[in-house]
Formats: sequence, structure tokens, C-alpha cells
Amino acid sequence: MALPIPNTASDPPRALSAAEALTPFIASTYTSSDINCYINGRKTVLSNPNPHWTLLDFIRAQPNLKGTKLGCGEGGCGACTVVLQVPDARSDKRRIKHLAVNACLFPLVGIDGKHVITIEGIGSVDRPHPLQERIAKLHGSQCGFCTPGIVMSLYALVRNSYDPESKKFHLSERDIELEGHLDGNLCRCTGYKPILQAAKTFIIEDLKGQLAEEPKGELRGTEDLKMEKEVAELARKSGKASNMSCGRPGGCCRDGPARSDSSSSDSKSTASTPPTEPASTSDDEHIPAIIEVKEKPEQDPSVSGTAYSKPMKSKEDASGATEIKTETSLDAPTAGSKHGIPQVHFQEYIPDTEVIFPFSLWKYEPRPLCYGSEKKIWFRPTTLEQLVELKDAYPSAKLVGGASEVQVEVRFKNSDFAVSVYVSDVQELKRTTIPSDAELESAKELVIAANTPLTELEAICKEVYAKLGKRALVLEALRKQLRYFAGRQIRNVASLAGNIATASPISDANPVLMASGTTLEAVNKTKGTIDLPMLKFFVAYRTTTLPPDAILSRIRIPLPEAGTREVLKAYKQAKRKDDDIAIVTAAFRVRLDSQDVVEDVCLVYGGMAPTTKESPKAKNALIGKSWFSSNTLDAGLAALLEDFDLPYGVPGGMADYRKTLTLSLFFRFWHESAAELGHKDVDSQAIDEIHRGISTGDRDNYNPTEQRVVGKQVPHLSALKQCTGEAEYIDDMPRFERELFGGLVLSAKAHANIISVDWEPALEMPGVVGYIDKNSISKEANIWGSIKKDEPFFADGKVLHHGQVIGMVYAESALEAQAAARAVKVVYEELPVILTIDEAIEANSFFVHGKNLKKGLAIDDKMDEAFAQCDRVFEGQTRMGGQEHFYLETNAALVIPSGEDGHMEVWSSTQNCMETQEFVSQVTGVPSNRINARVKRMGGGFGGKESRSVPFACYLAIAAKKEKRPMRLMLNRDEDMLLSGQRHPIQARWKVGVTKEGKLHALEADIYDNAGFSQDMSGAVMDRCITHFDNSYETPNVYLRGHVCRTNIHSNTAFRGFGAPQGMYFAETLMYNIAEGMGVDVDELRLKNLYKVGEWTPFFQKIDDDWHVPLLLHQLKRSADYEKRKAAVADFNAKNRWKKRGICIIPSKFGLSFATALHLNQAGAYVKVYADGSVLLHHGGTEMGQGLYTKMCQICAQELGTPLDSIFTHDSSTYQIANASPTAASSGSDLNGMAVKNACDQINERLAPLREKMGKDASFRDIVHAAYLDRINLAANGFWKMPRVGYTWGDTNLETVKPMYYYFTQGAACSEVEVDLLTGDHTVLRSDIMMDTGNSINPAIDYGQIEGAFIQGQGLFTLEETLWTRNGQLFTKGPGTYKIPGFSDIPQVFNASMLRYDNEGNKLNWNHLRSVQSSKGIGEPPLFLGSSVFFALREAVKDARRMNGKSVGGGRGQGAWKLDSPATAERLRLAVGDDLVRRAEVRRKEGEQGFLVAVA
Ligand SMILES: Cc1cc2nc3c(=O)[nH]c(=O)nc-3n(C[C@H](O)[C@H](O)[C@H](O)COP(=O)(O)OP(=O)(O)OC[C@H]3O[C@@H](n4cnc5c(N)ncnc54)[C@H](O)[C@@H]3O)c2cc1C
Ligand code: FES
Ligand code: FES
Repeated sequence: MALPIPNTASDPPRALSAAEALTPFIASTYTSSDINCYINGRKTVLSNPNPHWTLLDFIRAQPNLKGTKLGCGEGGCGACTVVLQVPDARSDKRRIKHLAVNACLFPLVGIDGKHVITIEGIGSVDRPHPLQERIAKLHGSQCGFCTPGIVMSLYALVRNSYDPESKKFHLSERDIELEGHLDGNLCRCTGYKPILQAAKTFIIEDLKGQLAEEPKGELRGTEDLKMEKEVAELARKSGKASNMSCGRPGGCCRDGPARSDSSSSDSKSTASTPPTEPASTSDDEHIPAIIEVKEKPEQDPSVSGTAYSKPMKSKEDASGATEIKTETSLDAPTAGSKHGIPQVHFQEYIPDTEVIFPFSLWKYEPRPLCYGSEKKIWFRPTTLEQLVELKDAYPSAKLVGGASEVQVEVRFKNSDFAVSVYVSDVQELKRTTIPSDAELESAKELVIAANTPLTELEAICKEVYAKLGKRALVLEALRKQLRYFAGRQIRNVASLAGNIATASPISDANPVLMASGTTLEAVNKTKGTIDLPMLKFFVAYRTTTLPPDAILSRIRIPLPEAGTREVLKAYKQAKRKDDDIAIVTAAFRVRLDSQDVVEDVCLVYGGMAPTTKESPKAKNALIGKSWFSSNTLDAGLAALLEDFDLPYGVPGGMADYRKTLTLSLFFRFWHESAAELGHKDVDSQAIDEIHRGISTGDRDNYNPTEQRVVGKQVPHLSALKQCTGEAEYIDDMPRFERELFGGLVLSAKAHANIISVDWEPALEMPGVVGYIDKNSISKEANIWGSIKKDEPFFADGKVLHHGQVIGMVYAESALEAQAAARAVKVVYEELPVILTIDEAIEANSFFVHGKNLKKGLAIDDKMDEAFAQCDRVFEGQTRMGGQEHFYLETNAALVIPSGEDGHMEVWSSTQNCMETQEFVSQVTGVPSNRINARVKRMGGGFGGKESRSVPFACYLAIAAKKEKRPMRLMLNRDEDMLLSGQRHPIQARWKVGVTKEGKLHALEADIYDNAGFSQDMSGAVMDRCITHFDNSYETPNVYLRGHVCRTNIHSNTAFRGFGAPQGMYFAETLMYNIAEGMGVDVDELRLKNLYKVGEWTPFFQKIDDDWHVPLLLHQLKRSADYEKRKAAVADFNAKNRWKKRGICIIPSKFGLSFATALHLNQAGAYVKVYADGSVLLHHGGTEMGQGLYTKMCQICAQELGTPLDSIFTHDSSTYQIANASPTAASSGSDLNGMAVKNACDQINERLAPLREKMGKDASFRDIVHAAYLDRINLAANGFWKMPRVGYTWGDTNLETVKPMYYYFTQGAACSEVEVDLLTGDHTVLRSDIMMDTGNSINPAIDYGQIEGAFIQGQGLFTLEETLWTRNGQLFTKGPGTYKIPGFSDIPQVFNASMLRYDNEGNKLNWNHLRSVQSSKGIGEPPLFLGSSVFFALREAVKDARRMNGKSVGGGRGQGAWKLDSPATAERLRLAVGDDLVRRAEVRRKEGEQGFLVAVA
């Protein structure tokens, strides 16, 4: 093995090169280059593996292990989670433990001596693990890309819950929800609720009577319990009382003997239950769903378990044939139903049948290891002595612990460590021993081995704190910080040493260690042990006093003597509570003498300076003062302001917020420490942080319109495949011979002339085959666009946004291609950038658009007159930020040229096969009929793959044509976020007039969306925005003008809702402003202005008698107990100074169809019935997790009268369906469903004579076989075009105008929140959603869409913020900086229901609905309802502002207040307007600019 050539430029001067220094060690000590491990029970030896590989790289290189996914590569999404099975070193028995880890970060060397379990190792479609089965059956998987990772995190939890010795299984709701086992996993589709419900089915396992009891109140704060109680109360009121039950849909064994009674009375008061029961309701109709654990699940013959046989070739065979049940190609888990109530059966969970720890690993003795190449080499010492020797010989060798910092540097900062040393197997570094109880009593410090994994440290802190109580407050503070430190997968492997040595200014552990006076022990060869006090350890940004040749070995945390009057507490504020790095993090320690005078104090902050920093001025100001005096508090606050006086443009931004937090956290500590030290007169409300209880929630599962197949809760047909990792996405497809990988060359500037591009250095790199750019195709072929062709595939002369594609390198492997792409040298001449809407308006930088809506007096340009008729007029400017799609599967494509006639198979993760085909055809010069664009499934789309997916297939096609070799590309997460556009940030400048009775009379607005550098669909997004600006309210005179801004950011695009959420958000903002301005109740104002049947929208669509918003509001108010809770919120707010609650209920109306893109409102389908009765179904829709394939199969099965699992859809392909519209606009089911029906109708018509002849008992198979013998065409091409629609812009003629939308999907939601006014943190206490979905084709799938969209909307309006730096670099380009909701962000009580009855309890009919099976599109409409959380937060903060004497809304003008979206913790905290905010205010100096820019 050759050793790396040292990089002399960056290495410190040394006498010896790496080769000279390290070769003797390799010869003497590191003689093995074999990693010995087990993978899924199979012994595996990796001899000298690729040193650049992480565990994930290795796993994904194995053809049979594609279930583990790459979602982000930075430890932020959990898609790559695998489980390490290892001996439990802390147990004196022979026990094993299961560690969920992020394979994308974990160093491959670290698996030596361990058993790696991947998703494939626990079950398969044929023999699923109960977890896989239950998640699938309870609808916990939609697109499925996150699913294997989530299954593996839960698998670790479930396995760790069982003690094989005592045979006891202990798993509680608390373990599942509150202990952070799932905080490292993200799901963008489901809204998490069904996953939690599936997990909770495990806590009801009684395992032959061995279910262990939940320990009561263990180490839980009173606040924790208080919150849990309140949430339980909310749940009880909503009819979901759980009383320690598992929360499973059907209730659980812990619900007590009165279960059946309580369940029926429960559901009577729920949102889900019709106000009046229909007469036919049978007893069990009250029960939301029946779940049973069965060894052998029963089959529902109408849905699955079909008996169709192998093809029969002759009449004779047919008559006498025994039916042979063939293996079905669908993997739909069975799901029956009784009287419209789903029946779900599970196999039993038997822990003793689980994968065991390989016997030979018990005896495994780790040996020093070394492997690598001349570019990179890995060492794995096993003793401290070996490590010290190595570091002495080669000080710049990179130590690697959990790699959670190092691997991020390698992947995203392109750090290249030639020599890496894995230290986590060094016994002395990884094992902390807790002293005996007697020793602890007198211990002055606790000594931690430096690389002890953080979860182990958490347990140690908990254990010692439980023993020592207040003496160990430092450990409790550390535990608290660790609980919200990264995700569980990272905590399982990351170390304190890694955190300390990184010296990040926002480290969570360092403030605690500093405040406590911790000393670090380091070792090197020359000096032996060196003591390094933490308070002096950090000297500058990411610079410490650790000598380069030293290793951190131990961390000595002091423990005060018993009786010392000392308190130490830690706090952290981040954008998201779970798995997020801090904005500000702090630890404070104070010691008092017997007179309450401060003897010592230490206030340490992270996030306020380039290093973690103590406040020296505060120390001076506080020592010697009486702690309990408010003057002392004041002196502390004043001193902090001096020590942490951030400038407006501080790196990282948020100067005001960070300063305010500095004060708020100290304020909290002062109260908390005073209470802890026995001071009586303390405002306890200032102490309580936001605590989350265990979530609960329900769906109204009873479906009165259920048919044989349609209307049933059939799980997503790929769910089980997704749960077992067998579902294939583009990057999982088998490698083709001679396949190459693309690596994109991206612009480093936001706006610049390209002076030169030098790709020669890239071509010289290993594995590189070639390079393409604008010169590889003609100028005309280089231009594309979804609606208007205005965008080059490859930048031509100029770059117009950061991340624009300049070229593509292709190489033998993805890693080589990406490395080579980075080596391409581009010289730029920078130009000024336009980023924000305001800048675009000022620079008059717009795309031509010119669409507007005029109604009433606006038609005659008399809006002045309309406003003159109003009693009150309000004006305002409202902004709403964009949103990253964050589908878990990034854009990916695979192009396979066939070598003949220019034909290509183009696989792409796209919602739009037709456009992919069209543009591949353009760039290759081959007609469309030779390009087969295909997609089997996407790992999420949400609109982001409607158009922006197209270029990637085109790049590959150009290269594939050139090289005549298959080409593949999958974007890294940061590339995807840079390149592929987002939801449009939008701004509205509005004016609204009302009568004195509060009736809307005039509305005028200019609305601007930030399109980015090209148009994409920005104009259409604006059209939908202005046609939803009315939401559900009638205004007689309206003038709305849409503008599309051209800026230097990526091209913004379709995103679930497509401008409608923005439009409706503006409408509701107007409502609040009017209510506040007029001093009226906003709910009354809403009711007063709701559309009535027969009224006209601003685009002259008549509200027909399917108008159900008033009904929805009425029923939801009742089921959510709205009025009572509104009063309770007011009461709570009157009594609380530092916490406020808010509640709101909002409606929505969402138009279905492709609006004025009339040609897209068409669809095709192809139904092919085979002689064995099986059916192959093609349609133009694509599957992105929304369950379209499942619904289409249901429609097909229903229409043909055949069992569901006789229908199969393989993929969507342009060779099967020509000219398919993109799957978008929530119209996938409407359009394709009708086309499928049309094809089925044709076949049914042809079969009708045979059906009549053979009688009603003849099976479909028999009829079909007879038809085949009769030479009847059993294939049919269906087609449908949406009737009625066809609005033309500007048409105001009520006689001739055509509707823009086919119908409206309507809904309402009610949310209640609680806000911590000191930090801006919040929790959603409860949300209730009610949707009018028509007759749902599949309620399970529709509920999935409703809950998932709601949570996505909640993220949009409260959490997700895209930010740019001043020079136009996207700052939020990964899960580290861009936060989407996680498991613990969902409402604590989360109920969803469907509108089925009118207020008199009569079954609803939709008189104007002409859709397939009278269903309604549901993908997008519920998203806006997530804004109910925003408006509830606004209400809460409004109350706080009132309390603080601040203005509370009322439009533009002096003192007016507005809260822009998203309502981040920062915005909420600064809006409170208290004295701390005032004191912390950062004054902007002349010309000073913020560090980060929001571009709305
Ligand atoms: C998704 C994600 C979320 C995160 N969230 C948080 C968070 O909430 N709070 C927070 O504070 N941090 C967070 N981090 C940062 C990181 O996880 C921590 O800093 C962690 O403690 C690093 O430990 P490690 O063992 O993984 O370090 P590694 O990455 O292995 O090493 C980090 C540095 O420490 C050095 N090092 C390791 N061991 C030793 C030793 N014994 N002696 C000397 N030097 C050593 C390495 O050489 C390297 O320079 C997050 C990281 C990620 C990727
Ligand atoms: S891919 Fe590993 S955490 Fe996202
Ligand atoms: S199902 Fe979780 S991301 Fe799609």
C-alpha cells in the first residue's frame, strides 16, 4: 500500500513525510488491512476497501443493499439510518445493544467487529418484520424514501426495549415520542402521525403477560407533567382520551374495561363524527378502526387474494382447470373493512425471533488496522499508546470520532484528509466508568473518557444526577443539552471530544463545561498528560490551545461539595427544538454564600461571538451582589449588553434576536436559580420552557360510501416494498455495463460574465471520461422552458444565479465525477445582483406578465369610487417567504442509449414524462417517438419535479449520445436546493375597504412573486395566487394585479398549492387587519363575508350549491369545541405573563384543474386485460407518494369488477401514454381516473354480451378467458378531457364566461398554540382539520394527503425560511440550515375528518361534481390550512403585545404591527415588544446591511 503524498502547503513543517513517518508503524503494528464484520447476519471481510467510502458508500455499492438511502449526506434526514449491533459495554451481563447510526457520516472503518443491520436484514415483502408490516398497513409510508431510515430507527428502539434474559419488553409512548429516538429522521410526506401510530402498536404487545409498567414520573419536571396533563385534557375534550393507552386508532388494551362504551361515546364528540348519526349506523361504526394482532392475516377477497390462474390456451383447459393462485405482482398488504370500518390485522411480534448477535463477534479481539491508497489512508489504533505514537509521528493526521463534524467537512467543505485515524475503538477513550456510590459521595469531579458516545454520556449524566441530586446539577444541565443535540443517530456515535475539539461557537456542550470549570486532559508523547482548563481553551474562531500532536483523553467535570449553594443551568434556542444547531446556547452557574450574596458566577454563551465566551463584565457586575435583588438582575442584563453588543450585519444574522435571547436566557436563569435556591418571591412562569406532551389524534375512519374496492382504506400499493427497502428509485436501479456518472459544474456567483472555463484539470482526474457544456449542443437546442423557452440548459456567456449549471463532467463513479466537477476552473467578472422583490421593483426588473382580475367597479376603472363608498379603508404590505420542496429523494435520472435509431430509455425522477421526452428529443435531435421517458416512482415531488427535473435528463442524454454509454446522475442535497427552485416568495401591497357593518366592499392589490432568473411557471403561479386572493370571501369590487419579478436567484417553480396558499394567506391577513382595525371579532367578520351560493368570484366563477365552507366551519367549530376553547385561551392569557396561547379557525377553497392551461386538462390511459384475468394498467400520472397508482388500480378494479390485486401498474412511460400532462394541480386522480374509467367502459361494453350469457356468478377471469377465445379485443385506450372549464383572461361577461376551475375542494382547520414569550418557541397544542373531499376513492390515502399537506403548510408558515447572503449565495442549502417539521413539531392533538353530512345529519350530495367516483382532488388543498398555526401564533403574540402596550395591527401606518410569514421563533420573540426586546435592540448604522436576506 502506498502512503499519501503529503500536501506540503497545508501541513505544518515536519521533518518526515507521511510515508517516512508512518511506514514503520504499518510494518510493525498496523499489519491488517481487513475490516471484519457481519452484515445482515453474514460474515463479511472488506480487504483494503476504498478509503473515501463512508459506510453508506459501501452499502449502496452492494447490489442487494439499496434500501438504505442517501437523502442529505450530512446527518440531517435519517434516510441512511442503519443499525449497529454491538455488545453493551455498560452492562456486566452479556447484553447487546442496537445503535441507529447515520451511514452517510459513519466511517467505514468503524464497522470492524460489529454487526451491521440494514433494512434488508430485518424483513422482506415475503416475510416482513412486524414494524415494516405495521407501518405499511397503517399508512406510514407515502413516497417511501424516508421509510427504511425510520423503520431502522424504530427497529433499534424496539430491539433495545426487550431484555432477553428476563423476557420483559418495555416500550412506552414516552420512549417513542419524548426521548428523541426519532429526532434524526425526517419525513416530508406523511405528517408523521401514522408512523407514530404504527410504532405505538408495539406498546400494546403483552408478550405473554410480560409487559413492563411505565416507571412513574422518573426524573420528570412538573412542567413536563403539567403539559402532558393539559394535552391529555385537550385530547379528552376532542374525544381522544388516552389514559396511557397507545393512541392506536382503535384504542388499546389500557383503555380499561369500559373500552367499547368509551370508544363509542368518544367518537360521538369527535370532529370526525357526523353531528347526527345516520339511521343505518351499526354498533361498531363508532369505532374508528379495528386493529388486531393475528398470526395469519385474513384476506379480503374483494380487495386482494384474487384467484386468477395461469394463462389457459384452450377451451378444454378452461372448463376443467383448477385455479392456481399465482404470485401477485402487487404487494398490497391486505386490508378489509366491515360496514365501512377498516379492519387491520397484524402478525404478532415475537422478540425472540429477531436477528441475533453473531456468536463469533463475542470473541472478536480488535486489532490495529490500516488501509488506503496513495491519496488517502485510514488507521484504526486500539490503544491510547498506539494513538499517541501515531499522532507524534504525524501530527496532522486527522482524528475521527463519530465523524459528525469531520465527514461534513469532507463532503461539503471539500476537506481532504490524507491520513485519518479512527479513535472510537481506543478503549481508554471510549469507556467511562461511573465510580461506586461510596466514591461518588466524596468525588470532587466526574471523569469522562473523551470519546464516550453522547447517548452513553446522556445515560451517565442521568444516573449520576439521580444519585447525587443537586450536587450534580452540571450533569443534569449537560443531559438537557444533549437531549436536544443533533439527532439520535449522531448522538449514538458522536463524542464530547469531537464537540470540544471542533471549537464551534455554537457548541451545546461547551458552555456547560466552561461554566462548570471543567478541565480537559490531553496527552502527547513529549509531555504525557496536559491539563487544559476549558475557560481558557478557546482562543479564536475554531482555534484552541490543544497542541497539534495531542489527543483529548479525559474530561474532568467538577462537582461541588454537598451543601454548596450553587446552581448551574443550561439553555438552548434553535429554529427547531429537535435536531438543530443553536442560535444562542448558554450555561450559567452562580454560587451564593449564606447571606445570598454572589460568591462566584459564570455566564457563558455560544452563538454570540467567534468562540464560546464567558461574560467578564457580568461576572464583575454580579460578584458581591445580593442575588435575589432585582437590581442584581438588572445589573447582569446591563453587563451582558456590553459584552455581547452585536452589530446589525453580524455574521450569521439575527443580531436583534440573538441579543434579546442573551437577555431572555439570563432572565430565565435568574428566576430559575432563585427558585432553586429557595427564594420565595419568584415568578415561576418565567422559568417554564415549552414542553411537549405525548401526541394523540384521530381520523374519522367510517366511510358510508364505501364500495367493493373504491372507498376502501387500501394501503399504498408499494407501502410494504417501501418499508422493506425493496422499492426501487432511480439510483437504486442496477448498474448498467459501461455506465458513467455525471457531476455538475455549478456557478459560484449569482450574477457574472463568464470569462473562461478550464475543464482540463478535471479531465486529468482519475476515472474521468469527458465533459460537456453549451458547446456540446446548438444554441437553439440549449434553450428550454416549461411555458416559455427562456433559460439555457448550460450557462452561455453569463451566469444568472448561484448554482447555475455551466457544464457536466462524467466519470466512472459518482464520487469521481463530483470531485472532477469541482476541479473545473471558472473565471468570472461579477455583476450587481438583484435578490429581493423590493430590489426588483426598484430596478423595474420584471418578466412580461400583465394578467389581472377586475370585478365590479374595477371593470370600468372606478376603484376610487368603490373605495369612496367604504366606511373604513385599510392598507398594508404583507410578505410571505418561499419554501424548499425538500422531497427526500433529490433529482435523479438515468439515460440508456440503445445504439439503434437514436432510441433512448430515459428514466427520471420526474412528474412530467412528456416534457422530459420533449426536451431530450430537442437536445439529441431525435424525434419524440424514439425517446421513452419513464418513471416508476419518485421519493417525493410536491411540484418540484414538474419542470425543474427536466434538465438533468437532458444533460445525461447529451453525454449518453456522445459517449454511447449509459449515464446516471443523482444530485447532492445542496446541489438540489441550489438548482431546482422553490416555492415563490411573494409580497402583496394591498388596500381593502369595508362598510361599517364589516362587509367587504373594495379590494385592490399589487402582488409580486420572486420568479428568479427565468420564468419557469412563475406566471401561472401568480395566476393561481390572484385567483385565490379571495379565499372564501365575497367582495363586490376587486382589482388584483399580478407581477412576476426577475431576480438573480434560482428559478422558482411549482410547489404544492402553486400560489394558492400565498393568495389565501393574504386574504386571511386582510381579515385580521380589518378585525383589528375595526375592533370586531374576526370569526364574525369571516362569517359575514363568506360566499353564498350564486355569488361570483373575481374570475367570474359562480359559487354553486356544492358550496360547503359554511357547513365545514359550523361542524368544525362544534367538534373542536371552538367557542369554549377560545374563552379558555383568553382566560389562560389573562393569567400568564410569559406564556400566551392563541386559537383560530380558518376556511379554505381551492380550485381544481390546470386553470387556463386548458390543454393540460386531458389524460390518457391504457388498460390491457390478459387471458388469465390479470390487468396491466397504464395511465399518464406519475407516482410520487400521493397514492395515485393505488387509486387508479382501485378505480380499474371497481370498474372492471375484478379484485384489486389483479391490476398492475409498472411505471409511467411515454411509450405507453402519449402526451401525458404533468402530474400536478391535484388533478392526477381526476384526469387519469376518468381516462382509466373510459378504457374500462370500453372493455366492459365489449364484455357485456358474455357477462349476460355467463351469468352474474361468472368470475372476471372466466369471462375474460371466454372473451379471449372469442377474439374480443381486451385492450382499450381511454381518454378524457375536462369539460366545462375554459376561462379566458379578461372575460367579464357573465353570460359567456367559462369556469376557471372544475370545482373547489374546500376545508377548514382549527389550531391552538402556546408560545414561550422569552424565546419565541412554540408548540401546537391541537389542530383539527375537516375537508370536503367528495366521495373519497381511498380515505386512508386522502387522510395521508390531508395530514401531510397540513404539516407541510405548518412548516411553510412557521418554520421554513430560505435565506441568501448579500452576494446572492443560497445560505439555506441543507437540513442543517433549512428546517422542515420533525416528529415533535406536529400538533399534540391532531384530528382529521371528512365532511359527509349536512347540519341535519343527512348524507351530503355533490350536485355539480362530475368527477371520477364523485371524488375530489386533495393533494394541495389542505396545505394552506397549516396557516391556522400561523394565525393562532399571531393571536398569541398579539395578546402579549397588548399586555406590553404595543400596537396590534390595523394595516399600514404609524405604529401598525405586522407579522410576516414564516412566524419563526425570531419573528415571534421580537414581536412581543417587551422591555428585553427594547433593551436589546440593534440600531442599524448608515449603509449597514443584514448578513442574510429573505427575498420576499
Ligand atoms: C446533523 C448534525 C447536527 C449536529 N447538531 C449539533 C448540536 O445540536 N449541537 C452541537 O453542539 N453540535 C452539533 N453537531 C456537531 C457535532 O455532531 C458535534 O460537534 C459532535 O460532538 C462531534 O463529535 P464527533 O465524535 O462526531 O467528532 P468528529 O467529527 O469525529 O471530530 C470532530 C473534531 O474533533 C477532533 N477529535 C475527535 N476526537 C478527538 C480527540 N479525542 N482528541 C482530539 N481531537 C479529537 C477531530 O479531529 C475533529 O477535528 C451536529 C452535527 C451534525 C452533522
Ligand atoms: S442521508 Fe444520512 S442523514 Fe440524510
Ligand atoms: S414517505 Fe416520508 S418522505 Fe415520503
